[in-house]
Amino acid sequence: MSTQFLPSGNVSRIKESATIAVSQRARALKAKGRTVIDLGAGEPDFATPEFIRDAAKRALDEGATKYTAVEGIPRLREAIAQYVNSQTPGRTPVEPSEVMVTTGSKQALFNACFSLFGQGDEVLVPTPAWTSYYEMVELARATCVPVLGDPAAGFKVTVDSLRAASTARTRGVMLNSPSNPTGAVYSAEELGAILALAEDRGWWVISDEIYRRIAYDGPATGSLQVARTRERLVLVDGVAKAFAMTGWRVGWSVAPLAVTKAMSALQSHTTSNATTMAQHATVAALVDTVQSDAAVTRMVAEYHARRDAALQLLHSEPGLRIVRPDGAFYLYLDVTATNPEAGDAGTDFATRLLDEAGVAIVPGAAFGTPGWVRISYAARVDDVVEGVRRAIDLWRSSRRA
Ligand SMILES: Cc1ncc(COP(=O)(O)O)c(C=O)c1O
Repeated sequence: MSTQFLPSGNVSRIKESATIAVSQRARALKAKGRTVIDLGAGEPDFATPEFIRDAAKRALDEGATKYTAVEGIPRLREAIAQYVNSQTPGRTPVEPSEVMVTTGSKQALFNACFSLFGQGDEVLVPTPAWTSYYEMVELARATCVPVLGDPAAGFKVTVDSLRAASTARTRGVMLNSPSNPTGAVYSAEELGAILALAEDRGWWVISDEIYRRIAYDGPATGSLQVARTRERLVLVDGVAKAFAMTGWRVGWSVAPLAVTKAMSALQSHTTSNATTMAQHATVAALVDTVQSDAAVTRMVAEYHARRDAALQLLHSEPGLRIVRPDGAFYLYLDVTATNPEAGDAGTDFATRLLDEAGVAIVPGAAFGTPGWVRISYAARVDDVVEGVRRAIDLWRSSRRA
């Protein structure tokens, strides 16, 4: 007898991550022998730097195989506090007790949404945004309020657009600079103004700064550098992108003590501590700044070169609208004109690009803007250039307006 599965109300509205779905489809095509250029993944193509891998091996040999405190090993919490404080000289230092180590920054974001928001609350999500924000807010039973930015301004939201979308029920806002999927970076003034508005209104701010170190016009501003107070601020970061450590699953939050305690209680009943060996490797990544700065600088220079190579091709294409990415490793393209009647031209375009030209990219519907597509340049420069060429070819042959 077959068992009929009816998902519970907790998950029935949750959609699979579209970014992960694209990677899986590309992998399935590769398994069938097709050559696929994968520009879908939001994952550095570099190996984790050797000194970090060595630290993990040493930790393993020294017995780092047991549970740790839920919030993380003290050395790592101290190293994170020090890492954050070194970016914010002259400001009230973050204490290790306000830091919590999580299984990837994804878990820190989930912990924060689940601990801060609930039924009846509205959360402003500058859109387009990373696909998981919408789902995490929903999982917390709060209501997501997408706030569409202006494409001409890199889709960045402003104090005015946030104010216009807010109601008496607004309880928080999700920020992400540099942004996935657009690569847009908020200036110190823009970020400071949004944080000041949130503070005046008593909103929680969850600031996802996972791409902060991947920026091309000098370092991107972090929220702690410009916030007047951090009483209602949760900073989320991690090692996945800057240090090419996606699979290690280490992230963290920096939040007021009471919030950290609530998130710790939640995590104690879900995943407990982040993987012990990976926590030790992260200490090395954060403490050995000579080696890690050199590694980050080398990788960012490589992303920069790929971005410029891709932009050169895209900018020479008349009528093709793109967001100029100043950070992260994504290009965001408007393909509405390839199928103006379709409600979701981006999905149509991405499907055709994969099936007809063997290039995997992510439809903008995943990020709340269906006419657009995201191309990742976390791939070899030859693949980026070839993939972008094929995308331009498809754009040219399908463009109707
Ligand atoms: C904006 C953003 N935040 C968070 C994450 C998750 O990162 P982690 O691997 O640390 O969980 C990603 C991964 O794609 C991301 O793009």
